Amino acid sequence: MDNEYKAFVVREDENGKFSRSIENKSINELPEGEVLIQVKYAALNYKDALSSTGHKGITRQFPHTPGVDACGVVVNSQSSEFKEGDAVIVTSYDFGMNTSGGFQEFIRVPAKWPVKLPDNLSFEESMVLGTGGFTAALSLYKMEQNGQIPEMGPILVTGSTGGVGSMAVALLAMNNYEVIASSGKTEAHDYLKALGATKIISRDETYDQSGRPLLRPKWAGVIDTVGDNTLATAIKACGKNGNIAVCGLIESPKLNTTVYPFILNGVNVLGIETAETPRNIRLKIWELLADKWKPKHLDSIKNIISLGDLEEYIELMLAGKSKGRVLVKF
Ligand SMILES: NC(=O)c1ccc[n+]([C@@H]2O[C@H](COP(=O)([O-])OP(=O)(O)OC[C@H]3O[C@@H](n4cnc5c(N)ncnc54)[C@H](OP(=O)(O)O)[C@@H]3O)[C@@H](O)[C@H]2O)c1
Repeated sequence: MDNEYKAFVVREDENGKFSRSIENKSINELPEGEVLIQVKYAALNYKDALSSTGHKGITRQFPHTPGVDACGVVVNSQSSEFKEGDAVIVTSYDFGMNTSGGFQEFIRVPAKWPVKLPDNLSFEESMVLGTGGFTAALSLYKMEQNGQIPEMGPILVTGSTGGVGSMAVALLAMNNYEVIASSGKTEAHDYLKALGATKIISRDETYDQSGRPLLRPKWAGVIDTVGDNTLATAIKACGKNGNIAVCGLIESPKLNTTVYPFILNGVNVLGIETAETPRNIRLKIWELLADKWKPKHLDSIKNIISLGDLEEYIELMLAGKSKGRVLVKF
């Protein structure tokens, strides 16, 4: 096997400035691990965009190759769980954060990280889903475990045109939930409707500035990717016993709320953490995504790009302008 391959690399210079380029790397430079994989597709997530700008909360050491989602074919395995030729998905754990990630032609990871590509999913579909789809599915899974049903009323999705948000809208709609999609993109209404949103509202409507501790209920549950005052508003306007899946921090990691929504309305806040989801639940979520929960609209959510286009799409994502899932094809 040729030892040289192409990788997207983020470097930090002596003045703390970051630069990004496509470099030739050698397989010997990959981290230790039992499974060597030839990457077929990787997907761009918000975390990758942050890592690419040198965000030390995501990646401490540079040079680094980001990419928290990848899929491909096993070319060498020291583990009895995988053999040469197996099709696998790699997401979560430390992949792409402080361990070299998916924006390169080869990756090497510990045997506990990959899952076998389910029979009903293509490589491409698995990456349209990726961490975004997994996060949306884990959110709905936890909400339903905690009693959420469509009859309780509509579910608000914030950051709805993003990777997690788009998947959340599609998943909720196919599970018979009415979906209120909050978005800052007026031009994306047709896109959100096609995914299954029943109502589209502006970001302002999920940004209460009245200072009141409770608002008239407007939704029965929430999948929130934004955090801060958007999440606080979502909590204040949630109906009785509704579940709020807290996934992200696009606005900021802060949360300023009173306890009234919890002690007067029984609102439940559910933490969504995908990196260390126990393996039995991880396999269950992928099984659902490959079967009963496989969204119909995977094709309309994807943008397929090459490694050379990545820089441009990272900039779009950081500017809050990305839409759907961005896939790097190798
Ligand atoms: N908990 C976990 O395990 C987990 C897993 C995956 C991701 N996440 C987190 O989930 C969040 C979303 O990730 P993603 O990959 O979906 O990101 P993304 O594709 O960049 O989507 C984020 C969306 O948020 C909205 N937005 C952008 N700027 C905003 C602002 N200033 N105020 C309010 N909304 C804004 C935009 O949608 P609209 O224009 O439609 O409003 C944007 O498309 C991130 O914080 C990420 O770190 C967490």
